[in-house]
Amino acid sequence: MIIKSLDLVNFRNIKEATLAFSGTFNVIRGRNAQGKTNLLEAIHLFSLGRSFRTRRREEMVKFDEEYLFARLACTSDAGVSFRIEIGLERGGRISVSVNGKKLAALSEIIGIMPTVIFIPEDVALATGPPSERRTFVDYTASQISPSFLQNLKEYRKVLVQRNAALKRAMESGSQPEGITAWDEMIVECGAAIIEGRQEMLSEIESRASRLIDDIMTGTGAITMQYSCSVDLSGKETKEALREALLGTRDQEKRRGYTLVGPHYDDISIFLDDRELKRYGSQGRKRLASIILKLAQAWAIMERRAERPIVLLDDIFSELDDETARRVNSLLSDRYQSFITTPRTEDIIDVEAARFFVEEGVVAVEKE
Ligand SMILES: Nc1ncnc2c1ncn2[C@@H]1O[C@H](COP(=O)(O)OP(=O)(O)OP(=O)(O)O)[C@@H](O)[C@H]1O
Ligand SMILES: [Mg+2]
Repeated sequence: MIIKSLDLVNFRNIKEATLAFSGTFNVIRGRNAQGKTNLLEAIHLFSLGRSFRTRRREEMVKFDEEYLFARLACTSDAGVSFRIEIGLERGGRISVSVNGKKLAALSEIIGIMPTVIFIPEDVALATGPPSERRTFVDYTASQISPSFLQNLKEYRKVLVQRNAALKRAMESGSQPEGITAWDEMIVECGAAIIEGRQEMLSEIESRASRLIDDIMTGTGAITMQYSCSVDLSGKETKEALREALLGTRDQEKRRGYTLVGPHYDDISIFLDDRELKRYGSQGRKRLASIILKLAQAWAIMERRAERPIVLLDDIFSELDDETARRVNSLLSDRYQSFITTPRTEDIIDVEAARFFVEEGVVAVEKE
């Protein structure tokens, strides 16, 4: 996928912008708080229909303005062109149209423009709570497999309803209503999620190993392990999940919510056989998180036969020159990338389109 152009009106501090991009590197420079990340947020909005920064869409509408509008033109690797338009009124709903046709559901936008983003906070992949790693794997699998995304959505819905039934039962001291049916739905979707994640994880792991080999020239090995909250040993996933639900039923009735399932699982990441979370240095944790994101991009590219857009928010300040150079060369011939930096020195000595952002005004920098 290549983004050709982007038009913005009233997006955060950007009053108006009309931008044409390079199919390889796009460098976005500017001092702090000028609008660099805002620009990445605008691009990323087209991959999921929501911001990677906030759940409150209205925050993206420029202060003192009533609406925002964003239009992006992109071409898939197979040569299909898309024109995606997003409109949002303050206090109103978001509307999305693709090639002039309004989407019935916002979620239909997912999958058109696969995107991988790395922001400084993504070091939480290595250091943060299990939910960070689950989200990472779920996001990757969802970009590749519509049925995984469907199961994930269904699971979340069923979990809310099952929890509500358990809570009502706890409060009234009665049996949870329809619990057998809820259990079966949890088993169906939950097992698909666990198996989908395990499969995804092994794909990410093998690619991450090759990437780390390129970047650290044979000094590191990355491995990953799915830590399931349910004991899967020697059992079929569905069976294991069914048994676990039955085994915790009494406890669940006392507590009023679901106590087992893929929403409790974690992923352990090892660097040279030691758990990264416990033993990794700060720099290694950061590099490992970047590598996992690049492995994600690679998996999406191969499985979808579509190169994802890569967005990198200020990552080079964290890396030494040699590592930055190697990360660059991994990106250069694979993906269209957008890289922000607050530094003035030329961090990327390759051909790139260069933009300079100042107080929300995006200007093209001449070579
Ligand atoms: N809805 C909005 N309307 C207008 N301005 C906004 C809105 N939301 C955020 N801003 C402004 O956008 C600016 C921040 O932009 P952004 O996060 O893109 O900065 P940045 O260039 O990435 O800076 P840094 O290098 O510090 O990360 C701030 O000045 C903030 O006040
Ligand atoms: Mg920023």
